Amino acid sequence: MESPESGTTNMTPMPPAERTSETSNLVSSNNNAKPSYLNILSNICALLFTGIIFYCCFKNGTSLFSFHPTLMSLGWLIFMTSAVNAVTPGDLATEWMPIRLRSARHWVIQLIAILFIFIGFLVILSHKIINNKEHFTSLHGKFGLTSFIFMVSTSLGGLGALYSLKLKNYLAPIYTKLLHASFGLITFCLGTITILLGNFSVWWSFGEILRYTCLLLVLLIMILTVLRPSLKVYFRLKERLGYSNN
Ligand code: HEM
Repeated sequence: MESPESGTTNMTPMPPAERTSETSNLVSSNNNAKPSYLNILSNICALLFTGIIFYCCFKNGTSLFSFHPTLMSLGWLIFMTSAVNAVTPGDLATEWMPIRLRSARHWVIQLIAILFIFIGFLVILSHKIINNKEHFTSLHGKFGLTSFIFMVSTSLGGLGALYSLKLKNYLAPIYTKLLHASFGLITFCLGTITILLGNFSVWWSFGEILRYTCLLLVLLIMILTVLRPSLKVYFRLKERLGYSNN
């Protein structure tokens, strides 16, 4: 009969401690990480960018389209960024919270982000249908559709990470969480690239200074948000692979 160890991943034996939820967390529960102001900085950039987008979208009156960039900015840059920050080591706003609360905060804010992005997606689809325009023709549209599909898949993967202990006979919790984190970071980057492409589309008529300010803000948000989680994933993987090689 297969031993519980061998039935886990078909890889190397797993240290018994990694089967428990506490040790398989990507963010350590001992709150040792140095507090980082990077997340706060990325939140400030996101607020500035969203403010600019609201100004651009409603400056000449309101149309159905006005709600596409605004909802997407709120969903992707305000809510999704905060959801990622909630599980980033050393996040100034949440580091005092127990890991379970941070994890709950992550998925609740992520659900809000999904709601905003879903409505933003329906808005642009309806806008194009009403105006009899072709779908997914521009680079922004293609990246947008890909980001949306990635977001749905990553969210389903998030359910796997949430119930990783229940799935431990198929994949060790640490790998379920590493997979979710890696896909999550790719998804986040895809969405921010989509936003950049949106600002460089024919719709933009608000001048070059504002356009390049937006470019800088979005790049800062992307780098500041993914930097620490990417390092976290890298070091956890290195740690696991190092263990495997021993
Ligand atoms: C500030 C942010 C954004 C701006 C300014 C913006 C702007 C635009 C514009 C002008 C269009 C119509 C022209 C075209 O098809 O390219 C469009 C369409 C589209 N956008 Fe965005 N967008 C933003 C964010 C996003 C995000 C984050 C997503 C990803 C989920 C997204 C997904 C799409 C899709 C899929 C379409 C094409 C819909 C279709 O062809 O039926 N957009 N956007």
